[in-house]
Amino acid sequence: MAFRKKPFIFVGLFAFLATWQVQASVEVSMEDRKEEYIGGKAEIQCRYTFSGVTDVVIIQWFVIQKNGGSRTRIYYTDGPQTVVDNGTGFTGRINVTRFTTSRDAEGPGPSEAILLTVEDVHLEDEGDFICQVNGMVAGINEGKTQLRVFESPEPPVIEGVHTGINADTQEPSKIAVCKARNGYPKPNITWYQNLTTLQTTASQVVITEQVTQESSGLFTVQSELHFKVSKKDKDTKFYCEVSFFVPGAVKMTESNTVNITVFYPTEKVWLRKESPDGLVKEGDTVKIRCLSDGYPPPPFTFRRKDKEDEDLPGNLDLLLLTNVSRADSGMYQCFSLDVDTFEEKVGELDLQVHHLDKAVVLLDDPVVEQGDSVTATCNAQSSLENWTAWFKDGVEVSVGHILVLQNATFNSTGEYICEVTVPSLPGLQTNGSISITVRGVPEIRDQEVTAIQGMVKKSVNLSCEALGYPKPNITWSGPGAQDWREVLKRETENSAHSVVTFTVTSDLTAICNAANDIGTSTKFFNIKAIPSTTASPKVTVTMSPYPKKVKKEGSGVIIAVIIICILLLAILGSVLYFLYKKGKLPCGRSGKQTISSEKSSKDDIIMEMKSEKSEEAVLLQGVNGEKKFPNDQ
Ligand SMILES: *[C@@H]1O[C@H](CO)[C@@H](O)[C@H](O)[C@H]1NC(C)=O
Ligand SMILES: *[C@@H]1O[C@H](CO)[C@@H](O)[C@H](O)[C@H]1NC(C)=O
Ligand SMILES: *[C@@H]1O[C@H](CO)[C@@H](O)[C@H](O)[C@H]1NC(C)=O
Ligand SMILES: *[C@@H]1O[C@H](CO)[C@@H](O)[C@H](O)[C@H]1NC(C)=O
Ligand SMILES: *[C@@H]1O[C@H](CO)[C@@H](O)[C@H](O)[C@H]1NC(C)=O
Ligand SMILES: *[C@@H]1O[C@H](CO)[C@@H](O)[C@H](O)[C@H]1NC(C)=O
Ligand SMILES: *[C@@H]1O[C@H](CO)[C@@H](O)[C@H](O)[C@H]1NC(C)=O
Ligand SMILES: *[C@@H]1O[C@H](CO)[C@@H](O)[C@H](O)[C@H]1NC(C)=O
Ligand SMILES: *[C@@H]1O[C@H](CO)[C@@H](O)[C@H](O)[C@H]1NC(C)=O
Ligand SMILES: *[C@@H]1O[C@H](CO)[C@@H](O)[C@H](O)[C@H]1NC(C)=O
Ligand SMILES: *[C@@H]1O[C@H](CO)[C@@H](O)[C@H](O)[C@H]1NC(C)=O
Ligand SMILES: *[C@@H]1O[C@H](CO)[C@@H](O)[C@H](O)[C@H]1NC(C)=O
Repeated sequence: MAFRKKPFIFVGLFAFLATWQVQASVEVSMEDRKEEYIGGKAEIQCRYTFSGVTDVVIIQWFVIQKNGGSRTRIYYTDGPQTVVDNGTGFTGRINVTRFTTSRDAEGPGPSEAILLTVEDVHLEDEGDFICQVNGMVAGINEGKTQLRVFESPEPPVIEGVHTGINADTQEPSKIAVCKARNGYPKPNITWYQNLTTLQTTASQVVITEQVTQESSGLFTVQSELHFKVSKKDKDTKFYCEVSFFVPGAVKMTESNTVNITVFYPTEKVWLRKESPDGLVKEGDTVKIRCLSDGYPPPPFTFRRKDKEDEDLPGNLDLLLLTNVSRADSGMYQCFSLDVDTFEEKVGELDLQVHHLDKAVVLLDDPVVEQGDSVTATCNAQSSLENWTAWFKDGVEVSVGHILVLQNATFNSTGEYICEVTVPSLPGLQTNGSISITVRGVPEIRDQEVTAIQGMVKKSVNLSCEALGYPKPNITWSGPGAQDWREVLKRETENSAHSVVTFTVTSDLTAICNAANDIGTSTKFFNIKAIPSTTASPKVTVTMSPYPKKVKKEGSGVIIAVIIICILLLAILGSVLYFLYKKGKLPCGRSGKQTISSEKSSKDDIIMEMKSEKSEEAVLLQGVNGEKKFPNDQ
C-alpha cells in the first residue's frame, strides 16, 4: 500500500503547482471506438502532449465495463514503477508499451504515446477504456476509447413444417423455424419467400422472435414464420437470413430453403389416354389416366357413361383396358369425391376403338374360259378409310377392292391375294385369297415346227410342254413312235411336260399332241438324219408357219372331227405298218420344203403324208370357220 500511496502525495503536490502554473496543460487524444472479435487482440492507443516541461508523468488505465458500470483501474505507471492491478479480469491479459511518436503537425510539444494491448478479448471487456495522463504541474487530462466486441453467430438452422398445410385457412399457418445461435451483439433474422423479404403484415405474415442470452453472454435468436398459404405457394421456397455486425461491417448468412406441402381442393378432373399413341385398334392395351388439379389427389372412380352403375376396376388413377374391342368404344368418366365438401367432380374421355374385319373375297366361278374376263371382290369392314391391293406371286396386279381380269390366259391361272390395309392405322391389316383357273385348249410352249439334225445311230430327245386346263394329255406320234422311250413326264394341275428319246436312223417327222376335253394342240418336229461321218451334230431350230391347234366346238362337230381323225390315223397307221412290215420305213417327213428333198422310192409316202395333212387342215378350216395360228392364242 505504501507503494501506492506515494504517487498520491505527488499528485496532490503537483495539482497545487498546476493550478498555480496556469498555462501548463496536457492534451490526450484517443480513438472514439475500437472494435474487436471476442478472442482477438485489442490495441488501444493513447497519445498525449504536454504544453510545458514535465518531470514526472503518471499514466493510469481505467475501464468502465458496459455491464459492470464502475470505474476500475487496471494499470498504473509513473516511469520506474509499473503496476498491473490484481483481480480486475484484465490481469495477465494486458501489456502496455510506451513510445514517442512523430510530432503532431499542429501539436506544440513532443508527442508521446502509450499502447494498451488486451489479449484474448472477452465479451465483458466491452466498455470504455480511459487513459489518464498526469504530468503534475504540467497538467492532468484523460481520453476515452470505447471497445466493442463481436462474435459471429453459427450459420442459421431452418426447420420447415413437414405436415401438409391447408391452403386458404383463416389464420396464417406455421411454415418454419429459424435459429441463429451464439452471436454478439444480437443478430437479426429476416425471412424470404422466393426472393422477397417477408415482414409481418396484419393477416398474411406473422413473424415471432425469441431472443435468449446464453450464460456466455452470447445471443441466440429464434424466429418463427407464420404464413397464410395459397395454392400458388406449393412451389414457393422459404428461407431465413441472419445478419450480424462484425468489426467494421455487417455480414449475412442464408439458411437452406424449405418448401411446403400445400393441400388444396380439387376443382377439375380430366382423363388422358397415355397409350397407345394415336388411334386405338382392336387388341390394343389402352392406358387411361385420371388427373386432377387438387392435392393430395382425391380418390378416383372410373365408369362408362352408358353403364353408370358399374365401376370399372381402376388402379388409383389408372384404368387399364386390355385387348380392347369395338365394344369398348365409348365415353369414359372419372369421378373424384372431395372428402371434406362431398363435392363430386367428373372428367370425360371419348375412346374410339377401330377395327378391320376379316376380308371377304367373292368370285363367281374359280374356273374361267380362256379369253373371258373374271371379276373378284374383296371386302373388309372397317371403321376407317381402307386401301385394297391385289397380289399374284408377290407382284401387285391391281388396286381397289374389285379385281377384273380381262382376256384370261393360262398365265392368269393362280392364287390372288387381296390385302386390305388402313393407312391411318398401320397395325390394321387383313388379307384374303382366291384361286383362278383358266380353262382352254392346251397351249404348247414354242409351238413352232422344230427342225432337228440328229446323227444317225445317236439318240435324240424331243421335249414337249403344254399348258391347259383340264390338264393336257401329251401323246407322241411318228414313225416307230411305239418304241420311243419317255424319259421325262411331269404334270401339274394345268400343265404337262414330256420328253421322249429315240435313236435316229433316218429323217422323220414327230408329232406332239397335247389334248384335253376342250381341244388339242399339235407340235411337229422335223428330224434330219445326218450320216455319222458328218462333223458337228449341231441342232438347228427353224420356225414353220404350219402348226396346228384344234378346238372342239359343239359336240356334234367335235365327234365328226374325232371320227375323221381316227379314220385318217387308222389309214396312216395301216400304211405305216404295211411299209414297216416290208422294211420300207426309213425316214420321217416334214412340211418344210427345204428338207423334203428325198429319195424317189419314198416319194409316194411323202405325198401321202402331205395330202393327209392338207386334207385335215382344210377340214378343220371348214369346221371352225376360221384359221388358227399359234400366235393367236
Ligand atoms: C498480486 O497478487 C499476487 C498473487 O496473487 C501477489 O504476488 C502480488 O504481490 C500482488 N500484487 C499487488 C500489486 O498487489
Ligand atoms: C507482453 O509483451 C511481451 C513482449 O512483447 C510478451 O512477452 C508478453 O507475453 C506479453 N504479455 C501479455 C500478458 O500479453
Ligand atoms: C416462387 O417460385 C416458384 C417457382 O420458382 C413459383 O412457382 C411460385 O409461384 C413463386 N411464389 C411466389 C409467391 O412468387
Ligand atoms: C437488426 O435490426 C435492428 C432493428 O431493425 C437494426 O437497428 C439493426 O441494425 C439490425 N442489425 C443488423 C445486424 O442488421
Ligand atoms: C421440396 O422440394 C424437393 C425438390 O425440390 C422435394 O424433393 C421435396 O419433396 C419437397 N418437400 C416438400 C415438403 O414439399
Ligand atoms: C382378345 O379378344 C378376342 C375377342 O375379343 C379374343 O378372341 C382373343 O383371344 C383375345 N386375345 C387375347 C390375347 O386375350
Ligand atoms: C373400306 O372398304 C370397303 C370395301 O372393302 C368399302 O366399302 C368402304 O367404303 C371402305 N371404307 C372406307 C372408309 O373407305
Ligand atoms: C382380248 O384379246 C384379243 C385378241 O388378243 C384382242 O383383240 C382384244 O382386244 C382383247 N380384249 C381386251 C379387252 O383386252
Ligand atoms: C405368259 O407367261 C410367259 C412366261 O411365264 C410369258 O413368256 C408370256 O408372254 C406370257 N403370256 C401372256 C399372254 O402374258
Ligand atoms: C395375310 O394375313 C396373315 C395374318 O393375318 C399374315 O400372316 C400374312 O402375312 C398376310 N399375308 C400377306 C401377303 O399380307
Ligand atoms: C435326253 O434326255 C436324257 C434325260 O433327260 C438325258 O440323259 C440325255 O442326255 C438326253 N440326250 C440328248 C441327246 O440330249
Ligand atoms: C391320255 O392319252 C392316252 C393315250 O392316248 C390315253 O390312254 C389316256 O387315257 C389319256 N388320258 C387322259 C386323261 O385323257
